[in-house]
Amino acid sequence: MKKVLILFWGKGGNVERMARKVYSMFSPEQTDIFDVVSFDVSKITDYDLIILGGSTVGAELWTDVKDDNEWNRFFRKVEDIDLSGKYVAFFGLGDQVLYPDHYVDALGIFKEEMSKTGATHIGNWPTEGYRFTDSDGMEGDHFFGLALDEDRQAEFTEKRVKKWTDLLKKEVGL
Ligand SMILES: Cc1cc2nc3c(=O)[nH]c(=O)nc-3n(C[C@H](O)[C@H](O)[C@H](O)COP(=O)(O)O)c2cc1C
Repeated sequence: MKKVLILFWGKGGNVERMARKVYSMFSPEQTDIFDVVSFDVSKITDYDLIILGGSTVGAELWTDVKDDNEWNRFFRKVEDIDLSGKYVAFFGLGDQVLYPDHYVDALGIFKEEMSKTGATHIGNWPTEGYRFTDSDGMEGDHFFGLALDEDRQAEFTEKRVKKWTDLLKKEVGL
C-alpha cells in the first residue's frame, strides 16, 4: 500500500487546520500527519508521497535566520536522504491583500530545498483566481503548490483542497 505523509509547521493556526483538512482527503490507513518538529526524519523513506505545508510569515524567517527556523532545521536533515522515486507536494498559506508582493513566497523555498532530495515534485496549481502582484512561489501561470488564503478567500478553500488532493492521488496512483 502506498503511504502518504503530511508535515506542517506552525502549530495551532491556519496551517495546522489546513494540514488536517488535507489529511481528511486521504484514507487514514495510508496517511500520517505530524508537525515537522515531532517527526523523526529518518522515517521519511517509508512514504511515497510527502506533502509539506506552511505559511509565509515574513522573508526574514526563511532566509536570514537560517538556524532559527523549524523548516530550515528539517531541510538540513533531509538533504542527505535520497528521495528519488518519491513524490513531493506543497501547500502554502498566505494573505494576498496584505502581502501582495510576497504572496505565498514559502512555496518557492519548499521547491528549492526539496529539489535537492531527488524527489519528484508534483501538485503545481494555477494562479488564476488569486489577486496579487508577485510571489517567489510561482513561475509563469502556476504556483509550485496549492496556495490557500484563509484571510481573504476562505470560501474557496474546501473546493481547492479537494481538487488539489484529487490531482495528487491521480498522479501518484492512490
Ligand atoms: C508577521 C506576518 C508576516 C506575514 N507575511 C506574509 C507574506 O510575506 N506573504 C504572505 O502571503 N502572507 C504573509 N502573512 C500571512 C500569513 O501567511 C497568513 O495569515 C497565514 O494564514 C498564517 O498562518 P498561521 O495561522 O498558521 O500562522 C504574514 C502574516 C504575519 C502575521
